[in-house]
Amino acid sequence: MNAGVIGIGRYVPDRVLTNEDLEKIVDTSDEWIRSRTGIEERRIADDDMDTSHLAELAAKNALEDAEIPAEELDMILVATVTGDYGFPSVACLIQERLGAKNAVAMDVSAACAGFIYGMITAKQYIESGTYKKILVVGVEKLSKITNWEDRNTAVLFGDGAGAAIIAPVSEGRGILSFDMGSDGSGAKHLYQNGQHLYMSGREVFKFAVRQMPESSLKVVEKAGLEKEDVDFLIPHQANIRIMEAARERLGLPSEKMAYTVQKYGNTSSSSIPIALVESVMDGKIKEDDVLVLVGFGGGLTWGAVALKWGK
Ligand code: UT7
Repeated sequence: MNAGVIGIGRYVPDRVLTNEDLEKIVDTSDEWIRSRTGIEERRIADDDMDTSHLAELAAKNALEDAEIPAEELDMILVATVTGDYGFPSVACLIQERLGAKNAVAMDVSAACAGFIYGMITAKQYIESGTYKKILVVGVEKLSKITNWEDRNTAVLFGDGAGAAIIAPVSEGRGILSFDMGSDGSGAKHLYQNGQHLYMSGREVFKFAVRQMPESSLKVVEKAGLEKEDVDFLIPHQANIRIMEAARERLGLPSEKMAYTVQKYGNTSSSSIPIALVESVMDGKIKEDDVLVLVGFGGGLTWGAVALKWGK
């Protein structure tokens, strides 16, 4: 039995914060932000919309896309580092609101690699025959932990949510292979201390340009494929220069990679599922395409999957 994706959904807040808006808040420029990161604008959730609300809206879209009622969910995994509370988990909060009364619910803490960790965890439960339908959500309200006085980080992040329903799919489709890893010695490079997020951008950058291509190539090899077999790359949308490094190592043209970083900035665990949804909506992904999804983040953590698209 192989686990794959039977439904997807995303939600991004309406409120747009442009680079020009940020020029009024910190000592920065549109030119610096664009050239160093590729970001042009990001979305910011209103004060009365917390993380679980973003997650709930993305999850509802995914359930609708999969055409299943919430009662059919066996498990809810929410990848987030910006939960509404220390506890209960965002997963428990949305279980109640979705009416997913048969699901066990928990959060996954792996920062920007969280959605990939969630997918790989879901795959284990599906392929062991334990569960049949699992909702995986990547969601962040990073605006609430952003230090709006620190130009090193304030310009990078945004809010959003993406979701997928993982379930058994037909033979040959679904998650073909995965790679995941952690390196706690790099915890000091990206963390939340008290209210705010802190990042040593250079260090994370160096780690990411090495890890993203490496992990991507690993899942291709583990799936018994060549890099020429990859139809589409969905990297974590942190910085366009890191994304391009991964694309070039896979030898893919730019039309075979998802770019949402310019519109949404870095939305951590939600960036990969949001980019997946938008690539499908834009008709860039078709049935039986081989996709590589790859992410990295605070921890340090990283993860990738090779996925053959379709039910
Ligand atoms: O989701 C996973 C976690 N995050 C990441 O993936 C981020 C990884 N890192 C990066 O994307 C990049 O390192 C950054 C975009 C954060 C920074 O780009 P960089 O090319 O590594 O620049 P830098 O940190 O080496 O800084 C260069 C200069 C510094 O000035 P000095 O010391 O050379 O005078 C910074 O103070 O740019 C300055 N700077 C800024 N200038 C204008 C830093 N932030 C800004 C800013 N506007 N917003």
